[in-house]
Amino acid sequence: MSAVASSFRIGPYVVSPAVVLAPMAGITNVAFRQLCREFGSPTSVYVCEMVTARAIVERDSKTIEMMTFGADEHPRSLQLYSVDPKNVTDAVTIIAGEGLADHLDMNFGCPVPKVTRKGGGAALPYKRRLFAEIVRAAVRAAGDIPVTVKFRVGIDDEHLTYLDAGRIAEAEGAVAVALHARTAAQRYSGEADWSRIARLKEAVTGVPVLGNGDIFSADDALRMMRETGCDGVVVGRGCLGRPWLFRELHAALTGQPVPVGPTLGEVAAILHRHGVLLADHIGEEKGLRDLRKHMAWYLRGFPIGADLRRAFAMVSGLAELEDLLGKLDHDAPYPAEAEGPRGRQGSPGRVVLPEGWLDDPEDAAVPEGAELMHSGG
Ligand SMILES: Cc1cc2nc3c(=O)[nH]c(=O)nc-3n(C[C@H](O)[C@H](O)[C@H](O)COP(=O)(O)O)c2cc1C
Repeated sequence: MSAVASSFRIGPYVVSPAVVLAPMAGITNVAFRQLCREFGSPTSVYVCEMVTARAIVERDSKTIEMMTFGADEHPRSLQLYSVDPKNVTDAVTIIAGEGLADHLDMNFGCPVPKVTRKGGGAALPYKRRLFAEIVRAAVRAAGDIPVTVKFRVGIDDEHLTYLDAGRIAEAEGAVAVALHARTAAQRYSGEADWSRIARLKEAVTGVPVLGNGDIFSADDALRMMRETGCDGVVVGRGCLGRPWLFRELHAALTGQPVPVGPTLGEVAAILHRHGVLLADHIGEEKGLRDLRKHMAWYLRGFPIGADLRRAFAMVSGLAELEDLLGKLDHDAPYPAEAEGPRGRQGSPGRVVLPEGWLDDPEDAAVPEGAELMHSGG
């Protein structure tokens, strides 16, 4: 069995072990990143929720709040969305000039119809010249800040874009590329095709290639690295309600035995910590409301009555949370039912594109109306 890479570089940063928390809108805020970091390595990378170039240029207050980083968070990884090289230049000039981040990741993977319909997200790499111009603009304006690029396999099986995207990103100065091994048409359904990650690794030889898609356990991460030769893994849904997955990934990638999952008592303590971190970040009321979406993920598979589950899903304050956590059977062991896929799955669907989008891949015109204002995906 071949050894897996233990670290890779994002420009000046050594990422060790070779694990990245995937950017997830509505999830990877400062509180969640901190929690994952407490379980994982301080030298892994934990990416912030996506923000849009336009929102930065217009100093949108919600976006500024989303760009909050922990006092000792390093590197401060920010994901940026844009379809317009000019906006990218302006936004990245602000980020670099005001020292707002230490690493920029460019998002070209969004499959949401309202985004692809305008030519944004996963539709964009089909326009090779425009894609190149956007990456170039980011790299130039970023100066010393390293830029990485994240994309999907393509629009659908007939329109694969990932090999060109990888080569172009490398040529334009991206210091690493990450592939979510699904097409936009797949959305989050079916399985990620890891063989694409292996193909990309063959095509992109000068910068690290990161694999993404369907890592739900430490073993999955090892398997992806062995099967594809990728330099690192990007983990999204697998850590929803399971930030301790980073402890397991850390162990597996450094050759240690993978610890067993937490008891319900330990999960209760982690859930409480998550609530406290959110309350510190956005206030108790908003924070606890945000925590509600994580409840089913945290409690999945544990023996908890339906009434208690419902109460967790409606929690509105820390004292109430503490009261509910006290009602749990703290000795209940980690259940097998908590393993396996979690989070968004959905079903595949045709990718809606702007009219004539597929006619000319070399057309570098900025698509109209695709420059989103709202950060957070
Ligand atoms: C709730 C949610 C929000 C996401 N938001 C973003 C985003 O803002 N930017 C991005 O590049 N990918 C986003 N993704 C995609 C993930 O980063 C990742 O590529 C995808 O979930 C596949 O990895 P996984 O199988 O480990 O979850 C999101 C995924 C989920 C589930």
